[in-house]
Amino acid sequence: MIPLLLQPESHVPLYIQLRDQIRALVHGGDLRPGERIPASRELATQLGVHRTTVANAYAELESEGLISGHVGRGTFIRGESVARKISAVPHPTSVDGGLRWESLFADERGEEILSRLTQAGPRGSVSFVMARPAAEFFPIEELRKCSNAVWRREGAEILQFGPSDGYPQLKQALVAMLRSEGYETGDENLLITDGCQQALDLVCKAFLRPGDTVLLENPAYPGALAVFTGARARILGVPVNTECRPGATPGVDVSAIEAVLMQNRVKMMVLTPDFHNPTGTTLPVAERRRLLEIAARFQVPVIEDHIYARLRARGERVPSLKQLDRSNLVIQIDSFSKIAFPGMRVGWIVAPSNVIERLRLVKQSTDLHTGHLAQAILAEYVRRGLLSRHLERTRKAYSGRLAALEQAWHTICLPERNGRVLKAACAFGSTCLQDSIRTNYRFTRANAASCLRRGVIFISRIRSRTRCVSDLRELASGTSRGESQRLPTCCAPKCASASEAPAARRSRESRWGDVFGSTDFRLWGFIP
Ligand SMILES: Cc1ncc(COP(=O)(O)O)c(C=O)c1O
Repeated sequence: MIPLLLQPESHVPLYIQLRDQIRALVHGGDLRPGERIPASRELATQLGVHRTTVANAYAELESEGLISGHVGRGTFIRGESVARKISAVPHPTSVDGGLRWESLFADERGEEILSRLTQAGPRGSVSFVMARPAAEFFPIEELRKCSNAVWRREGAEILQFGPSDGYPQLKQALVAMLRSEGYETGDENLLITDGCQQALDLVCKAFLRPGDTVLLENPAYPGALAVFTGARARILGVPVNTECRPGATPGVDVSAIEAVLMQNRVKMMVLTPDFHNPTGTTLPVAERRRLLEIAARFQVPVIEDHIYARLRARGERVPSLKQLDRSNLVIQIDSFSKIAFPGMRVGWIVAPSNVIERLRLVKQSTDLHTGHLAQAILAEYVRRGLLSRHLERTRKAYSGRLAALEQAWHTICLPERNGRVLKAACAFGSTCLQDSIRTNYRFTRANAASCLRRGVIFISRIRSRTRCVSDLRELASGTSRGESQRLPTCCAPKCASASEAPAARRSRESRWGDVFGSTDFRLWGFIP
């Protein structure tokens, strides 16, 4: 049997994959001149593809002179042309004669969505695509002073290789911060990362083999989906309750988690209990305790994404899973990205010391360590008490925006095709457009276009039909440019775009479409 492996999920057509693999086998000497290869029908059955796929691949190879078919006798590797091809075409080539890199990529699953998420919105737009801190509050001068201080004091250390678990001064500053928040954490429980995205990747590499099962919320943060699909893990999604009627419990459905754990061997759960992305829900403390009891009963670790928790603008902070954990079950991942400066790319993991040691080794083989300069500046920033001051300042500003958003909630009306009315709202980090009127409304392409025309950008449609107003109210909303004055006018039904000429409207729409790849917004974050 010829060793062939097709990837149906690849964007490279199957017949091209097949053609390239057979060509590589010929060039590598695995298929020799004169050797018979299976008939197209036989190979199609073996590979589970349509016969035309094989016929097309064979036709291309025949036109290259690599194989020849003889009626009644079969298809054979050609002799003299192979020798010629070996020197002339050492690798699969594209039409322009260059190396066809796509045929060599190992995998490309789950990667494209993140490129769309990380792009900045067009000038003048209000983008809810990704939760970005408000750039106008970046304390450039304070950071410059911190930077000068660390260069003067520890320049040589910054420029040298360092420990994989993190720059010692930053670890000390974070341990002090975490202890002041009630965490029983020592240096041995902390690993510095390039952010939560890397933390997810490290955890995945440390714990999961292809085929292992991981439980996520459904919908989930697309970056988590990208990591786990890339690792070929089996992903099980548990619904997130977004209802706000009295008595309803917001957040991930803990009973559903219990049911999933009863029926499946789950290796780990990855959850965002505070201001879950994209629904914005927060899991109440009683549900957190129940979740931990279930996790302990089934001995399944919980990865707690804590990235938004410190942004709470109103109400009591809910203790984290890590703070409530009495069984050493929780790995908490956290980051400076939402509370401070995502461009610095620094985050951290809090976990039992033996887990940290394992993650440290994985981190070492990934990137040796996170850059020292960013770590040193952030250490100084935290040590001088500037991070808490920054957080206080931005939380206050975001509260104002949240109030504007709530007000806009009652006035934003985006006309829908069938005459009903959509009201839009979003939470910091939620990037979601949700149904505010608790009807059977669904966010259609028409609505996406309508938002685009008004300069309001969302990555996709969200299927949730209700939302949790109370959670939205607790969360400081700091969207990239959602300034209090501009947001309502931008979204107001009678904004300038309503009278805009259709051609101008279309061109604006397609410009924004270009930025995000397409105006055909895809469902994202949903686990099929
Ligand atoms: C839930 C969640 N986790 C992780 C990340 C990525 O965080 P970082 O910038 O620290 O890598 C994001 C970013 O949007 C997020 O929303």
